[in-house]
Amino acid sequence: MNSILILFAHPKFEQSRTNKRLVQQLDQLEGVTFHDLYESYPDFHINISYEKALLARHDIVVWHHPLYWYSCPPLMKQWIDLVLEYNWAYGPEGKALQQKKCLNVITTGGLRELYCSEGSNHYSVNEFLRPFEQTARLCNMEYLPPFTVMGTHQLSDAELANKCKQYVQMLRFLQKDCSPQVIEDCVMLNDIPQIN
Ligand SMILES: Cc1cc2nc3c(=O)[nH]c(=O)nc-3n(C[C@H](O)[C@H](O)[C@H](O)COP(=O)(O)O)c2cc1C
Repeated sequence: MNSILILFAHPKFEQSRTNKRLVQQLDQLEGVTFHDLYESYPDFHINISYEKALLARHDIVVWHHPLYWYSCPPLMKQWIDLVLEYNWAYGPEGKALQQKKCLNVITTGGLRELYCSEGSNHYSVNEFLRPFEQTARLCNMEYLPPFTVMGTHQLSDAELANKCKQYVQMLRFLQKDCSPQVIEDCVMLNDIPQIN
């Protein structure tokens, strides 16, 4: 079974509706480590050696965050800047993350249909996530399609409950199998039949 590390960043978690529900269920999942960055590092002083040791113990790394200005909240960026060190994560001797898989789990205020060339956001979510994709690649990780919860302000309680269920199913799917053949055709992990 693949072990999963969820790195979670939400600067206003006390005001959250969507992510509060999404993460509530994660603690009980076997083989999944949930790590709340804002809770661990409210002063932004990231313990780099602790983070590296945590990464070493997991097969799949999830960057879970709300989309803020088409990117991640600042502590997630700080984590990337400080933890993914030269000659550890990348560079000629940087092989620590080799063979691992990586993906974004994001929530967005904007609806999925607004994230396209004709929509008000002009680009797809996958295009906005390119810096994460390339970061993962530079660190010798395989980047998987994102799992998204979009249009958060318009989601009913029932729809949100369904997204929570899909998130867990998606994690269970990744624990068992994340071979490229199964997911190569999907734009988002939401679209794989195994979770619907
Ligand atoms: C500072 C800030 C920036 C945001 N930027 C975006 C954005 O670029 N695109 C988008 O679709 N939603 C954006 N939103 C909306 C959030 O993504 C949305 O409120 C959040 O995902 C809902 O999850 P929550 O209930 O857990 O906070 C932004 C919200 C805030 C507060």
